[in-house]
Amino acid sequence: MDHLTVVDHPLVQHKLTLMREEGTSTQKFRRLLREISLLLAFEATRNLPMTTRRIATPMTEMDAPTIDGPKLALVSILRAGNGLLDGILDLIPSARVGFVGLYRDEATLEPVEYYCKLPERLSERLVIAVDPMLATGNSSVAAVDRIKEAGATDILFLCLLAAPEGVERMKEAHPDVPVVTAALDERLNEVGYIVPGLGDAGDRMFGTK
Ligand code: URA
Repeated sequence: MDHLTVVDHPLVQHKLTLMREEGTSTQKFRRLLREISLLLAFEATRNLPMTTRRIATPMTEMDAPTIDGPKLALVSILRAGNGLLDGILDLIPSARVGFVGLYRDEATLEPVEYYCKLPERLSERLVIAVDPMLATGNSSVAAVDRIKEAGATDILFLCLLAAPEGVERMKEAHPDVPVVTAALDERLNEVGYIVPGLGDAGDRMFGTK
């Protein structure tokens, strides 16, 4: 898989435009995020290895395709990651789920971990880390560091919007972790928000300010 995949599908792009609009309500934003996360997960799992299983249909027997190989784990980067998580779990209900919580130390601007709970045997799983916004990349890189420390070797990062700065930072720190996104935006502003972006993803999905 390329280091960056932009899911340039009409449904994804249309829903993303609705999410970007500042007048979109919290309720509608949440519903759109859930729908779009399903479509992004569809693309992110395109290359899962396949095998066949002998089954009986009402007509005959056949060797039918099934997913082979690694089991999936989803890791939500709190708190905005939870908005993507819900939709992906609709699509992959058997996935294990972990959480990494990070906040930014205002003095050092470095991400500090305040919570981490990850599934066991991550080395045997494909891990999809989810966070809607890949902005500076600082928290994404730190979360992937943590997931690797827990043993994962097969990781994919799924987000809704990415800034070039964040993609570059991820590529430098984790060249082995492909990024799947709905759009690559222009830039970061001086306080680390993605432009044109959609504002604060957490605030928009949870109705906070
Ligand atoms: N996090 C957000 O929620 N929005 C941005 O634009 C950047 C980081």
